[in-house]
Amino acid sequence: MPLRMAAVWFGATTMTRVPSADTGDPRVIPFHLDRMNMNDLEEVAEIERDAYSLPWPSSAYRRELRENKMAYYLVLRRRLPGVKVEEPPPRRPFPFSLLPQPPRSTPAAHRPAVVGHGGLWIMLDEAHITTIAVRSAYRGQGLGELVLCGLIDHAQEMHSKWVTLEVRVSNQVAQQLYRKYGFRQAGIRPRYYSDNREDAYVMWTEDIQTAEYKKKYAELKRALQAKIAERVSSSIIVPTTALE
Ligand SMILES: CC(C)(COP(=O)(O)OP(=O)(O)OC[C@H]1O[C@@H](n2cnc3c(N)ncnc32)[C@H](O)[C@@H]1OP(=O)(O)O)[C@@H](O)C(=O)NCCC(=O)NCCS
Repeated sequence: MPLRMAAVWFGATTMTRVPSADTGDPRVIPFHLDRMNMNDLEEVAEIERDAYSLPWPSSAYRRELRENKMAYYLVLRRRLPGVKVEEPPPRRPFPFSLLPQPPRSTPAAHRPAVVGHGGLWIMLDEAHITTIAVRSAYRGQGLGELVLCGLIDHAQEMHSKWVTLEVRVSNQVAQQLYRKYGFRQAGIRPRYYSDNREDAYVMWTEDIQTAEYKKKYAELKRALQAKIAERVSSSIIVPTTALE
């Protein structure tokens, strides 16, 4: 169940009220987690190039969206002024939630800009995170964490017990984010990355279905709500000119 506080978010629209940089008047900067669709691929490929030394091309995402029944991909949209966000359809109850959802197609001119994305594969008890990235200009505001929460939410809804991923041994920022959500290093894949032969840590969560994990996770999400509100409002780090 999505967390709801003063604003609606996680799976619907994230509305963060912030003071305007120039007037001090309140205004709304909304972030919206949404299923990735074919119309997003150009922007997703752009974020990949920004975020990774081995970016996935848009053809890889096209294949994932079309053919991989285990795959679940999210984008984090920033709603542009005057653009109406298409609300997601109501979630189907389990086991119907396992059936593929028909992709929604919002005309390109009306789509909000994509500022991040993430994905995972559901493999029985395991959810394997394949990617998580935020445009560099938008980092440090809790948005990567928000994407991670979107993925963990889905893993919980799909009754996965554990979430796992690989991360470069040098990627301290991502490791820090994962540790915060209970991931622990469980092994090493030597020379996993083909560009520089760097090793990967394999990280796993504890069982995400236990009451104990769910309690900690709910607390983290509450803190994240406050963090996004504070960081976005205190700095207006979100560069309105970058995407408009
Ligand atoms: C990893 C990534 C998605 C994090 O996104 P982000 O929006 O910058 O991160 P957030 O602002 O949500 O921060 C979440 C947590 O990440 C960690 N973190 C973020 N920036 C950090 C930094 N500069 N140094 C150390 N830890 C950091 C912290 O644990 C932070 O929680 P805290 O604010 O309570 O300390 C982003 O850095 C990115 O896109 N990196 C390139 C792609 C990548 O490496 N993906 C991971 C592949 S395994």
